Amino acid sequence: MKIIGTGSALPSKVVSNDDLAQVMDTSDEWIRSRTGICSRHIAVEETTTGLAVEASKKALDEAGISGEDIDLIIAATVSSDYLFPTLACEVQAAIGAKNATAFDISAGCSGFLFALATADGYFATGRFQKALIIGAEVLSKMMDWDDRSTCVLFGDGAGAAVVSAEEDHLLSMVQGSDGAGGMALMCENRPVNNLYRQLGPQTYSFTKMNGSEVYKFAVRTVPQAISEALEKAQISVDQVKYFLLHQANLRIIESVAKRLRQPIDKFPTNLEECGNVSAASVPILLDKVRGEGMIEKGDKIVMAGFGAGLTWGACVLEW
Ligand code: COA
Repeated sequence: MKIIGTGSALPSKVVSNDDLAQVMDTSDEWIRSRTGICSRHIAVEETTTGLAVEASKKALDEAGISGEDIDLIIAATVSSDYLFPTLACEVQAAIGAKNATAFDISAGCSGFLFALATADGYFATGRFQKALIIGAEVLSKMMDWDDRSTCVLFGDGAGAAVVSAEEDHLLSMVQGSDGAGGMALMCENRPVNNLYRQLGPQTYSFTKMNGSEVYKFAVRTVPQAISEALEKAQISVDQVKYFLLHQANLRIIESVAKRLRQPIDKFPTNLEECGNVSAASVPILLDKVRGEGMIEKGDKIVMAGFGAGLTWGACVLEW
Protein backbone atom coordinates (compact mmCIF):
# COMPACT_ATOMS: atom_id res chain seq x y z
CA MET A 1 0.00 0.00 0.00
CA LYS A 2 0.95 3.59 -0.51
CA ILE A 3 -0.41 6.72 1.19
CA ILE A 4 -1.44 9.13 -1.59
CA GLY A 5 -3.26 11.84 0.39
CA THR A 6 -3.76 13.03 3.94
CA GLY A 7 -6.05 15.50 5.69
CA SER A 8 -6.97 16.63 9.18
CA ALA A 9 -9.56 18.70 11.00
CA LEU A 10 -9.60 20.28 14.45
CA PRO A 11 -12.41 21.99 16.37
CA SER A 12 -12.15 25.77 16.39
CA LYS A 13 -12.19 26.16 20.19
CA VAL A 14 -8.70 26.10 21.69
CA VAL A 15 -8.49 25.51 25.44
CA SER A 16 -5.14 26.35 27.04
CA ASN A 17 -3.78 24.93 30.29
CA ASP A 18 -4.41 28.34 31.86
CA ASP A 19 -8.05 28.16 30.71
CA LEU A 20 -8.38 24.81 32.50
CA ALA A 21 -6.72 26.23 35.61
CA GLN A 22 -9.61 28.71 35.81
CA VAL A 23 -12.19 25.93 36.10
CA MET A 24 -10.35 23.17 38.01
CA ASP A 25 -7.52 22.71 40.48
CA THR A 26 -4.61 22.44 38.04
CA SER A 27 -1.88 24.63 36.56
CA ASP A 28 -0.05 25.19 33.30
CA GLU A 29 3.15 24.20 35.09
CA TRP A 30 1.76 20.82 36.25
CA ILE A 31 0.31 19.84 32.88
CA ARG A 32 3.20 21.12 30.77
CA SER A 33 5.97 19.62 32.91
CA ARG A 34 4.35 16.18 33.16
CA THR A 35 2.98 15.85 29.63
CA GLY A 36 4.29 18.57 27.29
CA ILE A 37 0.69 19.57 26.52
CA CYS A 38 0.01 23.33 26.36
CA SER A 39 -3.48 23.42 24.82
CA ARG A 40 -6.03 21.22 23.09
CA HIS A 41 -8.96 21.65 20.68
CA ILE A 42 -12.36 20.94 22.20
CA ALA A 43 -15.51 20.36 20.14
CA VAL A 44 -18.38 22.75 20.86
CA GLU A 45 -20.38 22.80 17.63
CA GLU A 46 -18.35 20.08 15.88
CA THR A 47 -19.18 16.36 15.86
CA THR A 48 -17.01 13.28 15.34
CA THR A 49 -18.66 12.76 11.96
CA GLY A 50 -18.21 16.39 10.89
CA LEU A 51 -14.51 16.33 11.77
CA ALA A 52 -14.01 12.97 10.04
CA VAL A 53 -15.75 14.19 6.88
CA GLU A 54 -13.67 17.38 6.76
CA ALA A 55 -10.40 15.44 7.17
CA SER A 56 -11.51 12.86 4.59
CA LYS A 57 -12.43 15.48 1.97
CA LYS A 58 -9.01 17.09 2.35
CA ALA A 59 -7.29 13.70 1.98
CA LEU A 60 -9.33 12.91 -1.15
CA ASP A 61 -8.53 16.34 -2.64
CA GLU A 62 -4.86 15.82 -2.03
CA ALA A 63 -4.99 12.35 -3.60
CA GLY A 64 -6.82 13.87 -6.58
CA ILE A 65 -9.65 11.34 -6.46
CA SER A 66 -13.36 11.46 -5.63
CA GLY A 67 -15.44 9.53 -3.11
CA GLU A 68 -16.63 7.22 -5.88
CA ASP A 69 -13.06 6.00 -6.42
CA ILE A 70 -12.88 4.68 -2.85
CA ASP A 71 -13.80 1.02 -2.36
CA LEU A 72 -12.98 0.66 1.35
CA ILE A 73 -13.51 2.99 4.32
CA ILE A 74 -12.22 2.08 7.76
CA ALA A 75 -12.77 4.52 10.61
CA ALA A 76 -10.89 4.07 13.87
CA THR A 77 -12.75 5.66 16.78
CA VAL A 78 -13.95 5.12 20.33
CA SER A 79 -16.14 8.23 20.31
CA SER A 80 -18.38 8.06 17.23
CA ASP A 81 -21.67 9.95 17.27
CA TYR A 82 -23.74 6.75 17.06
CA LEU A 83 -23.17 3.18 18.23
CA PHE A 84 -24.70 2.44 14.85
CA PRO A 85 -24.66 3.36 12.04
CA THR A 86 -20.89 3.42 12.10
CA LEU A 87 -18.77 6.51 11.61
CA ALA A 88 -17.35 4.98 8.42
CA CYS A 89 -20.87 4.65 6.95
CA GLU A 90 -21.68 8.26 7.91
CA VAL A 91 -18.52 9.43 6.12
CA GLN A 92 -19.36 7.22 3.14
CA ALA A 93 -22.69 8.98 2.72
CA ALA A 94 -21.18 12.45 3.14
CA ILE A 95 -18.45 11.96 0.52
CA GLY A 96 -20.53 9.97 -1.97
CA ALA A 97 -18.36 6.85 -1.71
CA LYS A 98 -21.16 4.64 -2.96
CA ASN A 99 -18.76 1.90 -4.11
CA ALA A 100 -17.15 1.45 -0.72
CA THR A 101 -17.41 -1.17 2.00
CA ALA A 102 -17.36 0.83 5.23
CA PHE A 103 -16.90 -0.16 8.87
CA ASP A 104 -15.35 1.01 12.14
CA ILE A 105 -12.49 -0.33 14.22
CA SER A 106 -12.18 0.14 17.96
CA ALA A 107 -8.59 -0.22 19.14
CA GLY A 108 -8.14 2.89 21.29
CA CYS A 109 -5.15 5.02 20.47
CA SER A 110 -3.72 2.25 18.24
CA GLY A 111 -6.81 2.50 16.04
CA PHE A 112 -5.23 4.20 13.04
CA LEU A 113 -2.42 1.61 12.91
CA PHE A 114 -4.94 -1.22 13.25
CA ALA A 115 -7.08 0.29 10.47
CA LEU A 116 -4.03 0.57 8.21
CA ALA A 117 -3.14 -3.07 8.90
CA THR A 118 -6.72 -4.11 8.15
CA ALA A 119 -6.70 -2.25 4.84
CA ASP A 120 -3.43 -3.97 3.98
CA GLY A 121 -5.12 -7.34 4.58
CA TYR A 122 -8.09 -6.33 2.42
CA PHE A 123 -5.73 -5.20 -0.35
CA ALA A 124 -4.03 -8.62 -0.21
CA THR A 125 -7.30 -10.23 -1.34
CA GLY A 126 -6.99 -8.32 -4.61
CA ARG A 127 -10.61 -7.15 -4.28
CA PHE A 128 -9.89 -3.61 -3.01
CA GLN A 129 -7.78 -0.85 -4.58
CA LYS A 130 -8.31 2.43 -2.75
CA ALA A 131 -9.05 2.87 0.93
CA LEU A 132 -9.87 5.82 3.11
CA ILE A 133 -8.45 5.33 6.60
CA ILE A 134 -9.77 7.66 9.29
CA GLY A 135 -8.95 8.31 12.93
CA ALA A 136 -11.55 10.60 14.53
CA GLU A 137 -12.37 11.36 18.14
CA VAL A 138 -14.41 13.72 20.28
CA LEU A 139 -13.02 12.42 23.55
CA SER A 140 -14.16 15.49 25.48
CA LYS A 141 -17.65 13.99 25.70
CA MET A 142 -16.22 10.91 27.43
CA MET A 143 -14.16 12.72 30.04
CA ASP A 144 -14.98 13.14 33.70
CA TRP A 145 -14.33 16.87 33.90
CA ASP A 146 -14.06 16.50 37.69
CA ASP A 147 -11.09 14.12 37.26
CA ARG A 148 -8.18 16.49 36.71
CA SER A 149 -5.65 13.67 36.33
CA THR A 150 -7.33 12.49 33.10
CA CYS A 151 -9.38 15.26 31.46
CA VAL A 152 -6.41 17.61 30.98
CA LEU A 153 -4.64 15.06 28.77
CA PHE A 154 -7.08 14.62 25.90
CA GLY A 155 -8.34 16.64 22.92
CA ASP A 156 -10.65 16.35 19.90
CA GLY A 157 -9.91 16.09 16.18
CA ALA A 158 -9.69 13.88 13.09
CA GLY A 159 -7.09 12.74 10.58
CA ALA A 160 -7.47 10.75 7.39
CA ALA A 161 -5.29 9.08 4.77
CA VAL A 162 -6.12 7.77 1.30
CA VAL A 163 -4.16 4.60 0.59
CA SER A 164 -3.73 2.84 -2.72
CA ALA A 165 -2.96 -0.81 -3.40
CA GLU A 166 -1.03 0.06 -6.56
CA GLU A 167 2.45 0.25 -5.03
CA ASP A 168 3.72 -1.47 -1.90
CA HIS A 169 5.43 1.02 0.38
CA LEU A 170 4.45 -0.66 3.64
CA LEU A 171 7.67 -2.42 4.60
CA SER A 172 6.41 -3.97 7.83
CA MET A 173 3.59 -3.96 10.33
CA VAL A 174 3.60 -5.16 13.95
CA GLN A 175 0.52 -5.31 16.18
CA GLY A 176 -0.20 -6.63 19.62
CA SER A 177 -2.75 -6.64 22.43
CA ASP A 178 -2.76 -7.37 26.15
CA GLY A 179 -6.32 -7.58 27.39
CA ALA A 180 -5.08 -8.55 30.86
CA GLY A 181 -3.93 -4.95 31.34
CA GLY A 182 -7.04 -3.42 29.77
CA MET A 183 -8.67 -1.94 32.87
CA ALA A 184 -5.79 0.52 33.21
CA LEU A 185 -7.59 2.68 30.63
CA MET A 186 -11.30 2.13 30.32
CA CYS A 187 -14.74 3.59 29.69
CA GLU A 188 -17.85 1.50 30.40
CA ASN A 189 -20.61 1.04 27.82
CA ARG A 190 -24.23 0.80 28.88
CA PRO A 191 -24.92 -1.95 31.45
CA VAL A 192 -27.53 -4.69 30.95
CA ASN A 193 -30.74 -2.85 31.80
CA ASN A 194 -33.96 -4.21 30.33
CA LEU A 195 -37.36 -5.73 31.15
CA TYR A 196 -35.70 -8.63 32.94
CA ARG A 197 -32.93 -6.80 34.78
CA GLN A 198 -33.93 -3.36 35.88
CA LEU A 199 -31.25 -1.06 37.19
CA GLY A 200 -33.36 2.05 36.73
CA PRO A 201 -32.23 5.17 34.92
CA GLN A 202 -28.52 5.07 34.15
CA THR A 203 -26.03 7.89 34.01
CA TYR A 204 -23.23 7.66 31.49
CA SER A 205 -19.83 6.63 32.76
CA PHE A 206 -16.60 8.33 31.78
CA THR A 207 -12.99 7.52 30.98
CA LYS A 208 -10.94 6.17 33.88
CA MET A 209 -7.19 5.75 33.73
CA ASN A 210 -4.39 4.44 35.90
CA GLY A 211 -1.83 6.90 34.51
CA SER A 212 1.30 5.29 35.89
CA GLU A 213 0.30 1.79 34.65
CA VAL A 214 -0.37 3.15 31.15
CA TYR A 215 2.89 5.08 31.26
CA LYS A 216 4.90 1.96 32.18
CA PHE A 217 3.12 -0.08 29.48
CA ALA A 218 3.92 2.55 26.83
CA VAL A 219 7.61 3.00 27.59
CA ARG A 220 8.11 -0.78 27.71
CA THR A 221 6.06 -1.79 24.67
CA VAL A 222 6.57 0.95 22.07
CA PRO A 223 10.38 0.65 21.66
CA GLN A 224 9.98 -3.14 21.44
CA ALA A 225 7.28 -2.88 18.76
CA ILE A 226 9.31 -0.37 16.75
CA SER A 227 12.45 -2.52 16.95
CA GLU A 228 10.46 -5.53 15.80
CA ALA A 229 8.96 -3.57 12.88
CA LEU A 230 12.42 -2.35 11.83
CA GLU A 231 13.83 -5.86 11.99
CA LYS A 232 10.99 -7.17 9.83
CA ALA A 233 11.55 -4.37 7.33
CA GLN A 234 15.32 -4.99 7.44
CA ILE A 235 15.90 -1.31 8.13
CA SER A 236 18.33 -0.02 10.73
CA VAL A 237 17.00 2.49 13.24
CA ASP A 238 19.44 5.11 11.93
CA GLN A 239 17.91 4.88 8.45
CA VAL A 240 14.57 6.16 9.76
CA LYS A 241 13.94 9.83 9.01
CA TYR A 242 11.00 10.35 11.35
CA PHE A 243 9.19 8.45 14.07
CA LEU A 244 5.53 9.52 14.18
CA LEU A 245 4.35 8.32 17.58
CA HIS A 246 0.94 8.49 19.16
CA GLN A 247 0.91 11.85 20.93
CA ALA A 248 0.05 10.88 24.51
CA ASN A 249 2.84 12.43 26.51
CA LEU A 250 6.18 14.07 25.68
CA ARG A 251 7.91 12.10 28.42
CA ILE A 252 6.82 8.83 26.78
CA ILE A 253 8.17 10.05 23.42
CA GLU A 254 11.47 11.14 25.01
CA SER A 255 11.80 7.76 26.72
CA VAL A 256 11.20 5.91 23.43
CA ALA A 257 13.79 8.10 21.67
CA LYS A 258 16.30 7.35 24.43
CA ARG A 259 15.68 3.60 24.32
CA LEU A 260 16.09 3.59 20.53
CA ARG A 261 19.21 5.79 20.89
CA GLN A 262 17.78 8.34 18.47
CA PRO A 263 17.84 12.16 18.63
CA ILE A 264 14.57 13.68 19.78
CA ASP A 265 14.35 15.87 16.65
CA LYS A 266 13.49 12.70 14.68
CA PHE A 267 10.23 12.58 16.71
CA PRO A 268 7.95 15.38 15.47
CA THR A 269 5.16 16.30 17.88
CA ASN A 270 1.89 18.17 17.94
CA LEU A 271 0.75 17.21 21.42
CA GLU A 272 1.70 20.72 22.55
CA GLU A 273 -1.33 22.12 20.72
CA CYS A 274 -3.57 19.03 20.33
CA GLY A 275 -3.13 16.92 23.47
CA ASN A 276 -3.91 13.22 23.13
CA VAL A 277 -6.46 12.72 20.33
CA SER A 278 -6.45 8.90 20.59
CA ALA A 279 -6.96 7.24 17.18
CA ALA A 280 -6.75 10.62 15.44
CA SER A 281 -3.38 11.54 16.84
CA VAL A 282 -1.07 9.74 14.37
CA PRO A 283 -2.96 10.79 11.18
CA ILE A 284 -3.20 14.42 12.36
CA LEU A 285 0.56 14.41 12.97
CA LEU A 286 1.21 12.71 9.61
CA ASP A 287 -0.83 15.39 7.85
CA LYS A 288 1.10 18.10 9.66
CA VAL A 289 4.58 16.81 8.75
CA ARG A 290 3.50 16.22 5.15
CA GLY A 291 1.96 19.70 4.98
CA GLU A 292 5.23 21.20 6.17
CA GLY A 293 7.11 19.35 3.41
CA MET A 294 9.19 17.39 5.89
CA ILE A 295 8.82 14.02 4.11
CA GLU A 296 10.38 13.32 0.72
CA LYS A 297 10.16 10.42 -1.68
CA GLY A 298 12.23 7.48 -0.46
CA ASP A 299 12.22 8.55 3.21
CA LYS A 300 11.72 5.77 5.75
CA ILE A 301 9.03 6.64 8.29
CA VAL A 302 7.94 4.76 11.40
CA MET A 303 4.42 5.22 12.76
CA ALA A 304 3.44 3.80 16.14
CA GLY A 305 0.29 3.79 18.25
CA PHE A 306 -0.48 2.47 21.73
CA GLY A 307 -3.30 2.69 24.19
CA ALA A 308 -6.59 1.22 25.33
CA GLY A 309 -7.04 -2.52 25.11
CA LEU A 310 -4.18 -2.53 25.87
CA THR A 311 -3.08 -2.44 22.25
CA TRP A 312 -0.09 -1.36 20.22
CA GLY A 313 0.97 -1.18 16.59
CA ALA A 314 4.02 -0.02 14.66
CA CYS A 315 4.83 0.09 10.96
CA VAL A 316 7.65 1.10 8.66
CA LEU A 317 6.78 2.96 5.46
CA GLU A 318 8.96 4.01 2.58
CA TRP A 319 7.61 7.25 1.22
N1 COA B 1 -3.12 19.22 38.00
C1 COA B 1 -2.48 19.29 39.18
N2 COA B 1 -2.23 18.22 39.93
C2 COA B 1 -2.64 17.03 39.47
C3 COA B 1 -3.31 16.88 38.26
C4 COA B 1 -3.56 18.04 37.51
N3 COA B 1 -4.19 18.03 36.32
N4 COA B 1 -3.59 15.59 38.06
C5 COA B 1 -3.10 14.91 39.11
N5 COA B 1 -2.53 15.79 39.98
C6 COA B 1 -1.87 15.50 41.24
C7 COA B 1 -2.26 14.16 41.82
O1 COA B 1 -3.43 14.30 42.58
C8 COA B 1 -1.05 13.85 42.68
O2 COA B 1 -1.20 14.53 43.88
P1 COA B 1 -0.79 13.85 45.28
O3 COA B 1 0.67 13.51 45.13
O4 COA B 1 -1.06 14.92 46.26
O5 COA B 1 -1.66 12.65 45.38
C9 COA B 1 0.12 14.50 41.94
O6 COA B 1 -0.46 15.40 41.00
C10 COA B 1 1.04 13.53 41.23
O7 COA B 1 0.28 12.70 40.44
P2 COA B 1 0.97 11.52 39.67
O8 COA B 1 -0.11 10.61 39.16
O9 COA B 1 2.05 10.93 40.51
O10 COA B 1 1.67 12.28 38.48
P3 COA B 1 2.61 11.66 37.40
O11 COA B 1 3.89 12.38 37.43
O12 COA B 1 2.63 10.19 37.46
O13 COA B 1 1.86 12.06 36.05
C11 COA B 1 0.34 11.42 34.32
C12 COA B 1 0.53 11.68 35.81
C13 COA B 1 -1.11 11.07 34.09
C14 COA B 1 0.70 12.67 33.56
C15 COA B 1 1.28 10.26 33.91
O14 COA B 1 1.05 9.15 34.73
C16 COA B 1 1.08 9.87 32.49
O15 COA B 1 1.35 10.64 31.60
N6 COA B 1 0.64 8.62 32.24
C17 COA B 1 0.35 8.16 30.89
C18 COA B 1 -1.01 8.59 30.53
C19 COA B 1 -1.27 8.44 29.07
O16 COA B 1 -0.51 8.86 28.27
N7 COA B 1 -2.42 7.86 28.75
C20 COA B 1 -2.91 7.69 27.44
C21 COA B 1 -2.18 6.64 26.72
S1 COA B 1 -2.96 6.30 25.22
